[in-house]
Amino acid sequence: KKVVLAYSGGLDTSVILKWLQETYQCEVVTFTADIGQGEELEPARAKAQKMGVKQIFIDDLKEEFVRDFVYPMFRANTLYEGEYLLGTSIARPLIAKRQVEIANKTGADAIAHGATGKGNDQVRFELTAYALKPDIKIIAPWREWDLTSREKLMSYAQTHKIPVEFKKGKKSPYSMDANLLHISYEGGELEDPWTEPEASMWRWSVAPEKAPNKPTYIELTFKKGDAVALDGKAMSPATLLAELNKIGGANGIGRADIVENRYVGMKSRGAYETPGGTILLKAHRAMESLTLDREVAHLKDELMPRYASLIYNGYWFSPERKVMQELIDASQATVNGVVRLKLYKGNVTVAGRKSDTDSLFDPSIATFEEDRGAYNQKDAEGFIRLNALRMRIAARRKKKR
Ligand code: ARG
Ligand code: SIN
Repeated sequence: KKVVLAYSGGLDTSVILKWLQETYQCEVVTFTADIGQGEELEPARAKAQKMGVKQIFIDDLKEEFVRDFVYPMFRANTLYEGEYLLGTSIARPLIAKRQVEIANKTGADAIAHGATGKGNDQVRFELTAYALKPDIKIIAPWREWDLTSREKLMSYAQTHKIPVEFKKGKKSPYSMDANLLHISYEGGELEDPWTEPEASMWRWSVAPEKAPNKPTYIELTFKKGDAVALDGKAMSPATLLAELNKIGGANGIGRADIVENRYVGMKSRGAYETPGGTILLKAHRAMESLTLDREVAHLKDELMPRYASLIYNGYWFSPERKVMQELIDASQATVNGVVRLKLYKGNVTVAGRKSDTDSLFDPSIATFEEDRGAYNQKDAEGFIRLNALRMRIAARRKKKR
């Protein structure tokens, strides 16, 4: 009867809008979110109006995105398969959550999205929707229609008088997705994993070799594991991340070119720019190195790949993610202090870290100079001998054989 469409205003979702109206004879509500993709949203409103949409939602979700999704994820030092900072993965649950809220508000019984049937995004949207509204109906046009090529899509747009505006310059050959955390590129020449992306593909960062010859120093202040100030100036999560993106991008930081394993089973090649996130990850680890108990830190490191897969695979609103989050958040109580970083030609190096309230680093114990008795070197002898016991037993056994 009524369907809420995640609508960008671009060609694909405009075709979907028309196709929904035609195929399902239903009223379509559009929803466009600002999560920092850096595009104007008002054109989307105008286009939706033109296509007869009566209920149009345009929401600024930037702060919620960084505060409730990106920051909690960074408390875990999350990386998927060692490299991917999950920029797209972490945004999908928020978009789907808002879509469900709008469905509830407008009395819609279905939602629709523009993800293909081959990727991760469909899974993330739909797992979230089902978790929050168990009876929701989901329409994924890419899995239903026969507009299987660019040409078919274009001719559908033409016959249905969907305004196709050709942006200045040539259309990007990549499938891209951008938000405050990252911009991603897939497809086109990237489909050959041996081909280096052309220099002009990257939009957020300068090439490391073209970055300034002088390093940039910054200081990040952490409170309970979250970055709250840059160079001593307090900032909201979204403002801070945007600022780090600028500084990081100018220094060539945060590019990644990887082949990753999609949840649906295939490998895919992607390029990513995550300048602010790359800085945050390094800084947060440095803050934890000073303030976290060793076993707590190691436990977090063991859980992290699991937690990363949950997010990558779309299980943000699952019970297991929430339980892990409780543990991760509890661990952050002592993660307070300041990290000083040096940014230089694509690198982030930690130049200093301090915590007046929570540092576990005790120079009077760690010193190579004479210490004052908290650590007795004689204790080390028995510690090592007992730890060696089983290896000595085995070695003796081997000798006898
Ligand atoms: N491969 C990345 C991921 O699964 C990025 C996906 C980008 N999505 C897109 N619609 N272009 O998270
Ligand atoms: C898509 O299939 O819509 C984009 C790629 C992905 O979701 O992994």
